[in-house]
Order: sequence, then C-alpha cells, then structure tokens
Amino acid sequence: MTSARVRVALVPPAPGALPADVCAVAIDVLRATTTLAVARLNGAARVVPFATPAEALEFRRRTPGTLACGEREGRIVAGFDLGNSPREFTRERVNGMSLAFASTNGSRALLAASRCRRRLLGSFAALSATVEALKRERDVQLVCAGKLGRFALEDAACAGTIVARLAAAGAKLADDGARLAVKFACSDAGEARALVEGCDHGRWLASLGDAFAADVDFCATMDALEASCEW
Ligand code: MLT
Repeated sequence: MTSARVRVALVPPAPGALPADVCAVAIDVLRATTTLAVARLNGAARVVPFATPAEALEFRRRTPGTLACGEREGRIVAGFDLGNSPREFTRERVNGMSLAFASTNGSRALLAASRCRRRLLGSFAALSATVEALKRERDVQLVCAGKLGRFALEDAACAGTIVARLAAAGAKLADDGARLAVKFACSDAGEARALVEGCDHGRWLASLGDAFAADVDFCATMDALEASCEW
C-alpha cells in the first residue's frame, strides 16, 4: 500500500520549477530516460542535463571523467561521445563516468526536476521497479518530456500507467494532470508495446533505420529492466 499523492505535468515546466520537496520522475520513453536508465544500471556515475549541446561540450571540457551525449534530430551530435540509443551505453563505455546529456526533449524534463530532492528516470522498461520505488514516497511528481513543448502520447501513457498502479495501491490523484494521464494507462505489456510502436515518435524513429527500430523495440518492452534508477 501507499499514501503517496501523485501529480503529472504533461509537458515540462521551466528548468528548476518543480518544488524541492517532491520525488520527481522524468519520463521520455523514446528514448532519453530509457537510455539513461540503462546507463545508470551500467555504472554511469551521474547525469548532468543541459538544454544545448554547446553547454554539454563545455561541461565535458571542464570536467574530467565526463562523456558528452544526447541527440539532435535523433542522431548523435558532432563532437559528442555517445548519442541517445540504449545500445550505446554499455558498461565498457559508461562505468564510473559522468554523462553531460543534451537531448531535444528529455533534457527539458530532467531540467524541470533539477531542484527536486529525489529524481528518478521513468520508462516502460523500468515500469514495475519505478512504481515500487515510488510507493515509499509522500509526494510524487511525474514530468513528461513531450515534444517541443507539446503533448506526446508515449510519455503520457507511461505516466498514466505509473499513476494507475500507484492508485491501485492507495495513492491519491492530486491534480488534473494525474486524472487525465490515468486515462492513457496501459493495462499490459502488449498494449504498451503497441502504443509505443504506433505513436508519432515511435514511427518516426523506426523510419530512420533498423538500429533505431531496435531502440523503439527496447523502449517498448515493459519491465526489460529490473531496477529503478535515480540520476
Ligand atoms: C528527445 O530527448 O527528444 C528524445 O530522446 C529524442 C530521441 O529519440 O532521440
């Protein structure tokens, strides 16, 4: 059971806007927060989000033990060490390293949560583990990355599935965002896969080539990862 109160931002608020006393979950199913969860499970020491690639490159220049990573238009940025694919963030590449991360939308959700006392990486891949971690919290704020400030179905559905599972364990839906997101909840792994593969961003990524389609496949796999991840 849980006495958590859960809120959902369907698009990211301004950097640092979320209150310090909540547990925040940034959600960019395709692909940033799925990829960063893989990175953390493979030993990445921390994630430092940036709005722009230039800021990430400058941080790497000043900070030993840092990799610059992320994307623009889905592809690795010139001068970066890694892109935004879960398959790139192997233990060999990231163990013990700091990640200076700049992606188009995922960074916005991470930055919104930058002052929060506890910060998790939300995804379908780590769904059940994330829900378990949240049951011990009092105030939970889910933050969807969306797309350039607009709604994205895969993020809302992941948030809604987390809300539905927490509500089933006794959590209170504490704002209209949570009441709306729960209507997009996926009832099982098959429904989540169909939604992620069929949404605008999933179809666009798959159109970029086989490696990107494989990323969509991974990001659509509920509970592919067994642990929740903080950043
Ligand atoms: C983003 O932050 O916009 C995404 O993670 C884009 C992507 O799929 O690489």
